[in-house]
Formats: sequence, structure tokens, C-alpha cells
Amino acid sequence: MKLADNKATLSFSNGSPSVEMPVYHGTIGPDVIDIRKLYAQTGMFTYDPGFMSTASCQSSITYNDGDKGELLYRGYPIEQLATSCDFLETCYLLLYGELPTASQKSDFDYRITRHTMVHEQMARFFQGFRRDAHPMAVMVGSVGALAAFYHDSTDITDPKQRMIASMRMIAKVPTLAAMAYKYTIGQPFVYPQNNLDYTSNFLNMCFAVPCEDYKVNPVLARALDRIFILHADHEQNASTSTVRLAGSSGANPFACIAAGIACLWGPAHGGANEAALKMLAEIGSVDRIPEFIARAKDKNDPFRLMGFGHRVYKNYDPRAKIMQKTSHEVLAELGIKDEPLLDVAMELERIALSDDYFIEKKLYPNVDFYSGITLKAMGFPTSMFTVLFAVARTVGWIAQWKEMVEDPGQKIGRPRQLYTGSPPRDYQPISKR
Ligand code: CMC
Repeated sequence: MKLADNKATLSFSNGSPSVEMPVYHGTIGPDVIDIRKLYAQTGMFTYDPGFMSTASCQSSITYNDGDKGELLYRGYPIEQLATSCDFLETCYLLLYGELPTASQKSDFDYRITRHTMVHEQMARFFQGFRRDAHPMAVMVGSVGALAAFYHDSTDITDPKQRMIASMRMIAKVPTLAAMAYKYTIGQPFVYPQNNLDYTSNFLNMCFAVPCEDYKVNPVLARALDRIFILHADHEQNASTSTVRLAGSSGANPFACIAAGIACLWGPAHGGANEAALKMLAEIGSVDRIPEFIARAKDKNDPFRLMGFGHRVYKNYDPRAKIMQKTSHEVLAELGIKDEPLLDVAMELERIALSDDYFIEKKLYPNVDFYSGITLKAMGFPTSMFTVLFAVARTVGWIAQWKEMVEDPGQKIGRPRQLYTGSPPRDYQPISKR
């Protein structure tokens, strides 16, 4: 963070003295005005619900430029990483800041692979959930419960414990995700296989059964691995900010990631992939699209086009482009020539992108628009879509959490408010109310 040559001056129309505030440059992206001393100097807070203009931290992990439709992990464009890396290479990059050398990569893969099993008692912990529980509910509970099983990695002041907790989470969240799936369909849990790569192992834990052989399809494994790369981090989005806020109090990392999963579940965030596929199924056929476009534009109808729009992207989400291509690859590999939902999605995108409402508001398909079609074709039920997002985002949450904990200037997050409730008043006994 570099001090800029210029300063910001805030003046008041009531004659109160104006105040000067420092301005900082990042490496790329907008400058920020440092308002930390504003309250001490003026007795006033800033008001920014939804953080429309607020940088909540400094970070060197991920950058996205919403106008250009650009996403960088540690400076590398997402398109390059999605084509050339595997997911664990991306994890290494996000965690350590640089791409691994060949020996660093094989050591990292080895360490993650050796942490994939969960404590055997976790299987019994699962029995407490209803079989029809949403797998995201199971994820919030079971990831939070890791803190009860791995006491030796909850001391956040110890760098070794922080790293072990990070490894454990990247390795065990897919195992828990697969268990959450198996539990809801009443099949036995499948143990991790250390001879498989990260994503093939995940597919095996989800789709293998003890009574017959299951061979992971390498094309599907590569496609899912790419989907994981696309979802790995996205700077200070709602769930990441939740992880940071939870972690700012000194809470253990398992509890913080469970908080992030809870936030991700919402339909405005990670829950949108499930909602988008449900919407495409509800639309059902191309001829019904105009009806739904009209509903999305109607101010009196709460309906929104799920998988469209983004707080930051005011251009095509770069992840959506790759996701669309991946969708076609997966359908071709599986020999699915006719997928009505893909036809509806492509026509919906075409119509929306030529409609004035969507053009004016700069609403483009986001990462969640095409992911559902791809995951459905792979055999995942809609209820698992957000779980897969959580598997991928775990590394982003962990990298951001570590960055925050390791920042010497870190403080507990404590926003202020504009109070609009009653002024002080006296208690009235119940008989007088
Ligand atoms: N369909 C129809 N209108 C929309 C949509 C949509 N999907 N998204 C935004 N708008 C309109 C909205 O009504 C508003 O209109 P007006 O200015 O007339 O009130 C304007 O566009 C700005 O919307 P906003 O809600 O103020 O924007 P936001 O930045 O607060 O919300 C968003 C961003 C992603 C929550 C929103 O676009 C949305 O609800 N999209 C659908 C859900 C979705 O796909 N979420 C996934 C996001 S990407 C992955 C992730 O984060 O997990």
C-alpha cells in the first residue's frame, strides 16, 4: 500500500473545519481514501451498507476488475490458470503467493492427499442428521465440528498449527461433501483413495459403491477440476468477508470456514447455481423465455434471473465464459446431444443480452449460470451444487483467513451504525402500557 501524492479533503456546509485524509494506491484498481481517523477528527461515521464503496482490508491474493471482466489470482489471469493448472496447483498459488516448482507441487499434493480421511467418529456424527437434510446444512455442521476433532490445529497463534489446519480443511472438506451426498441418498460412505488425484478422488467418493467397480472418467475429472479452479477465490465477496469477520475475533479456522459456508448458502451468493438450474427447469422451453424476462423486469415482481448480475462484474463474468465451454465439453463427452436446459440457457442469455433493461443495468451471466447444467450432466443433484462451490472456495477462504491473521495490523472487525431507533425513554410497568 503506497501513499498517493494527493489527499482527500472533506468539507462541511455548516462551517465545521474540513479534514484531510490520506489516499493510498494499490498495485492495480481504484485508490482508497483512508478514513480510519474520521470519527476521532469529526465525531462522524461513514455510511455504506452493503460495502458499495468500502475496501474492508488490503489483500494481495485476488483481483477482479468488474468493468473489464478480469479476474487474477496472485496476478495470473483466470483463463490461463483454468487451462494450464490443476486445482491443487491453484491452491498452492493462492496459499503461498507463487506457483509451485515441480518438487513443491509433488510435496504439496502428497501432504494434502495424506489429510483426506476424517476422524472415524465423524461418520457417527453424521448419523445425527435427518436423511433429508440439505447437504449444505450438513456441511455447516460437519465443517464446524472439525474443531471438536482436531484440537491440535486450533491455536491460531502458532504458524505450524495454522498451516496444518489449512491443509486439513482443503483435504477434508471434499471428504465431508461426498459424505453429505452419500448420507442423503442412503449409500455407504466411500473412503478416500490416495492413488487418485484430488478431483478424481472426490468423484470416486461421490459415485463409487462397494458392490461394483467405478472408473473415474478423466474428461469429467478435468472438467470438475477446472470448475474448482474457477470458484477457488473471488476477493472480498460475502462469504470471504464473513470468514474474515469471524476470524477477526480470534475464532479457530474450522469455525470461520463453517461461517463462510453458511453465508455461501444464500441464493444471492453460492446458492445461485442451484437456483439458476431450478429456474431453467421452471422455464422449461424456449417459448416461455419472454414471460420470465418480463417478470425479471417487473418492479412489482421479486423474481430475478438467477445466474445473472454481479456486484462487481459490469461486463461478462470471465468465469462464465469458461464455464459455458466446459458445459459443452461435458455434454459432448457424455453423449448428451439434446439438453433442453442448455437450449433454454443459451437462448435466455441471447435475449437478455439484447434487452435494454439488462444492457442498461449491465447484467451479464455470472459463474453460476452454466455451472448447474454441467454439474447436473455429471450426475450431481441440484442440492449438491452449492456444496461443490464450498469445496472449491475453501482454499480461498483459508488463504484470506491466513492473510488476515498474519497481518500485524489486524484488528477485530467492528462496523458502526446509523441508529434510527427510539431515543432514551423510561420503563413503564406492564399495567401502564
Ligand atoms: N435479474 C433482474 N434484475 C436484476 C438482477 C437479475 N438477476 N440482478 C440485478 N438486477 C437489477 C436490480 O433489480 C436493480 O435494479 P434497480 O436499480 O432498478 O433497483 C439493479 O439490477 C442492481 O441490482 P442490485 O441488487 O442493487 O445489485 P447488487 O450488486 O446488490 O446485487 C446480485 C448483485 C448478484 C446479488 C444480483 O445481481 C442478483 O441477485 N443476481 C441473481 C443472483 C445470482 O446470480 N447470484 C450469483 C452471483 S455470482 C456468484 C456468487 O457470488 O456466488
